[in-house]
Amino acid sequence: MSLRSQIIGCGAYLPRRVIPNDELAKTVDTTDEWIVQRTGISQRHVAADGELTSDLAFAAARDALRASGVQPESVDLLVLATTTPDHTFPATATKVQARLGMTGGAAFDVQAVCAGFIFALATADSFIKTGQAKTALVIGAETFSRLLNWKDRGTCVLFGDGAGAVVLRAHVGGGAAGRGVLSTHLHTDGRAYNMLYVDGGPSSTGTTGHVRMDGQGVFRHAVAKLASVVDEALAANSLNPGDVDWLVPHQANQRIIDGMARKLALGPEKVVSTVSRHANTSAASIPLALAEASGDGRLKPGQIVLMEAIGGGLAWGACLARW
Ligand code: ACO
Repeated sequence: MSLRSQIIGCGAYLPRRVIPNDELAKTVDTTDEWIVQRTGISQRHVAADGELTSDLAFAAARDALRASGVQPESVDLLVLATTTPDHTFPATATKVQARLGMTGGAAFDVQAVCAGFIFALATADSFIKTGQAKTALVIGAETFSRLLNWKDRGTCVLFGDGAGAVVLRAHVGGGAAGRGVLSTHLHTDGRAYNMLYVDGGPSSTGTTGHVRMDGQGVFRHAVAKLASVVDEALAANSLNPGDVDWLVPHQANQRIIDGMARKLALGPEKVVSTVSRHANTSAASIPLALAEASGDGRLKPGQIVLMEAIGGGLAWGACLARW
């Protein structure tokens, strides 16, 4: 019997401040109607001054540990997906590690922007499958608001801040009926580097920079690449779209989510969507959605959960899990 990572608890944290579309419309030339129609977003949470990515990550991680009944000392791996680290170095993960009271193992950051949670989950899953870790915290945390030009209506309306986390535990038990992560599938294509990027950084400008995006280009790539990686994940597990109980997608845009649901012939009752309330929280969006849907009892043991995400890089991926 092989080792598998089981998701045994989820956690979430959203900053207190909520900015509805109407409030944004006072500072940039936009309307609630335009934003809702094009994206499905009605509001976003934004971190307070001085509230850092590590603060959000810590709160979500603590919540996930509580939900799973795991003590921080028994966590031997922490993987934090973020594009908005507290500092250029060290890894924000190490700050969270110390605050949690996790004294052993390793903690590091993973950078794959909006696909970051899938990349972090795949990394932790590989550590567990190869016996290098037994209990892992996987966190997606972002203060994306700090990368936005709040005068650019094309980007500032799309994003929000937040953090989500899951606890993975190694257990013996493979086979199609076994619970846990069934497979992960990762891709990047650096030829699209300039399609979605931040125009700053320590090595280029020495500044933090702002998000730049070819929105229509990203949209076109998103639907095609997500459909392809989802096909790959289903085929790897000899599953059909009809076997999927829940689609828990990256929450960038309701139109992309609807496009994927249509391709899989999944009704809206099988899709977890938080984008209207959270906006795009980048690496935090999937674990935030998982925490919400497991917390309210939608995700049930034994169900097939499909996660998928795409973001800057371009980087994209999918994960199939039996809950
Ligand atoms: N309010 C009002 N008008 C706006 C706004 C706004 N907030 N933003 C742009 N516009 C205007 C544009 O200036 C343009 O005006 P013009 O015709 O006078 O030039 C018009 O609206 C149409 O602009 P488009 O960019 O063509 O609008 P589109 O229908 O493509 O919608 C959007 C833009 C929502 C960004 C869409 O392309 C999209 O969702 N793309 C996916 C990008 C994404 O999700 N990125 C997130 C990161 S990647 C990821 O997570 C998948």
